[in-house]
Amino acid sequence: MHRKLFVAFNVLLVAAFVWSLAVDYKKDWRDIQAEYFKKTAAAYAEKAKSAKDPKEAETFNQLSKAALREPIMIRQIIAKDLNRIDRCITCHVGMDEFVNPTLTTPHKEHPFTGHPKLGEIVKNHTFQKYGCSVCHAGQGLATSVEAAHGKTENWEKPLAKGALLQASCAKCHMNFQSLKGAEMVAKGRDLFEKHGCIGCHSLHGVGGAVSVDLGNIADKPLERIAPFNLSLIKTKDGKPLPKDDWKLPAWIEAHLTNVPMSFIPNDPHAQYNKEPIAPSGMPDFTQEIKHEGADAITAYLLSMSEEENIPHKYHVIREAKPEPKFASAGDHGKFVFKKYGCAACHGLEGVAGRRNYNAMGAGQPALDDVKADKAKLHEAMAMGREPTLPDVLGTYTREELKKKIQDGVPGSQIAKYNPDGPTPPLYMPAWKDRIKGQELEDLITWLLSIAKKQESW
Ligand code: HEC
Ligand code: HEC
Ligand code: HEC
Ligand code: HEC
Ligand code: HEC
Repeated sequence: MHRKLFVAFNVLLVAAFVWSLAVDYKKDWRDIQAEYFKKTAAAYAEKAKSAKDPKEAETFNQLSKAALREPIMIRQIIAKDLNRIDRCITCHVGMDEFVNPTLTTPHKEHPFTGHPKLGEIVKNHTFQKYGCSVCHAGQGLATSVEAAHGKTENWEKPLAKGALLQASCAKCHMNFQSLKGAEMVAKGRDLFEKHGCIGCHSLHGVGGAVSVDLGNIADKPLERIAPFNLSLIKTKDGKPLPKDDWKLPAWIEAHLTNVPMSFIPNDPHAQYNKEPIAPSGMPDFTQEIKHEGADAITAYLLSMSEEENIPHKYHVIREAKPEPKFASAGDHGKFVFKKYGCAACHGLEGVAGRRNYNAMGAGQPALDDVKADKAKLHEAMAMGREPTLPDVLGTYTREELKKKIQDGVPGSQIAKYNPDGPTPPLYMPAWKDRIKGQELEDLITWLLSIAKKQESW
């Protein structure tokens, strides 16, 4: 008999535990709000106990009682100018200026804390005017934790954390490079320039035409991407990206933390199409750009969202960085190489050509040795590279080089490693109208200065 009771008791205990977990997960905003006031009342009561004189104690006791009398209701900020209604303070009650004017609380855990950045953030952007979601993203109107934090399937903008939170700063602050608190998004902008993204992608029409314009990527729905591609993305620890995170920020970041070819494999062996299609031409940046940098670049790209339509009076314009000055024609040429994103295909400072699937590359095995084995053939085709400039520039005269850069080389003229394989995805753009005059002259001066001396015979 005892034994049976014991077993039944255990079953009950487990059931109660599971139930409590479920309740926590689905916690209602009413319970959260009630808990906030209960905790706050307890904190005042505690203060009353340790108060030095009875008058002070009485004040704290009154505050404690008042906290328990607060109505439990939906609390919201109507940020009219910014076109949003944010109910975050329904749960984050300590950030409701009417309930808690100091915006600090004695509570350590979310959602009961006060706001951590009172001096820098709250002072300059009052909650009544700005709300929360303009900086934090998430879904302002929602009143369940998952929906408000944007974890539900139909919401594209999850709560932004760390570097991604800073995407918001750049939406309003122009020339944000020197803005305190926007260091990560400024870093993202620098990395975008440094790695030559602009050689392949444009931003609002300015830049390369090899791939899509990234200026409006923040406003493109993720629906355009096949679930198949999202399912191939891996997290930092090599695990598949959880479905909860199949959102735009993760998709952008994946282009830098995963080898794009691995999740955009296309059809190099023409298994599903008549013609073979090369895998993504986007280079492998996993070695050059680490996770922190990928976060920063993602923040920068997200900051370009135009959908939110922030009114002009909320734009803050700082002085732009002055144009750099150059000591020599070569220095200017090196800057031109960076400015137009030549690094996109020829590597940082031109030192190593990047992948061009099924182009010729160093160390490729003889085609006949790998032809029969699809995996080996794929590996060999993936060894295709764009030219490593210092190795070839020495064969050019100044005039020839000028012509090459002006005319470019169309994809159809790029020699294939495997004649039956796909056309290499990357070509040399014709820079005709874009680089000319002094920029072109100085670019060539610099290129010739990095050329390896050719052996004479
Ligand atoms: C239904 C209640 C509820 C609403 C509404 C809500 N939150 Fe939260 N929030 C929580 C809870 C509970 C936590 C702590 C547990 C967690 O992180 O899920 C939290 C934690 C947070 C954190 C810190 C932890 C983290 O994940 O980074 C931030 C930031 C945050 N919320 C912002 C917001 C913003 C912005 C909104 C409005 C768009 C919002 N919350 C709306 C309940 C809520
Ligand atoms: C002007 C931009 C801005 C606004 C508006 C804003 N916040 Fe924040 N918030 C920040 C920044 C910046 C941080 C610091 C984050 C960090 O250091 O990683 C922060 C931190 C937080 C945290 C702590 C996060 C953590 O991980 O500990 C919470 C919670 C939070 N905010 C909630 C809110 C809520 C709720 C509102 C609206 C009442 C709001 N914020 C309005 C910029 C803002
Ligand atoms: C919706 C627009 C908006 C967003 C989002 C925003 N700010 Fe601001 N910010 C402003 C405006 C407007 C001012 C007031 C400028 C003034 O008073 O001249 C300001 C003032 C400031 C100031 C003080 C003035 C200055 O230029 O130094 C700082 C610092 C600041 N913001 C940092 C941030 C940071 C960091 C973020 C991101 C976490 C951020 N802001 C997000 C609009 C915004
Ligand atoms: C050599 C050319 C090339 C360079 C350099 C390049 N990309 Fe790409 N990128 C592509 C191509 C091609 C695609 C399209 C992917 C596909 O479907 O094959 C792409 C896709 C993307 C996408 C997804 C676009 C969308 O609409 O979903 C992002 C984000 C992206 N690139 C970011 C970057 C960033 C950031 C850099 C610089 C660090 C960069 N790219 C450098 C060629 C390039
Ligand atoms: C989208 C990729 C891409 C970008 C951006 C790019 N190139 Fe190229 N470039 C190539 C490819 C591919 C070739 C090789 C064409 C071939 O096979 O003949 C090439 C060839 C060259 C060559 C001739 C090398 C040789 O092997 O003879 C020079 C010089 C050159 N590029 C300079 C530049 C400069 C300068 C820039 C920036 C203004 C630039 N490239 C930007 C892809 C690119």
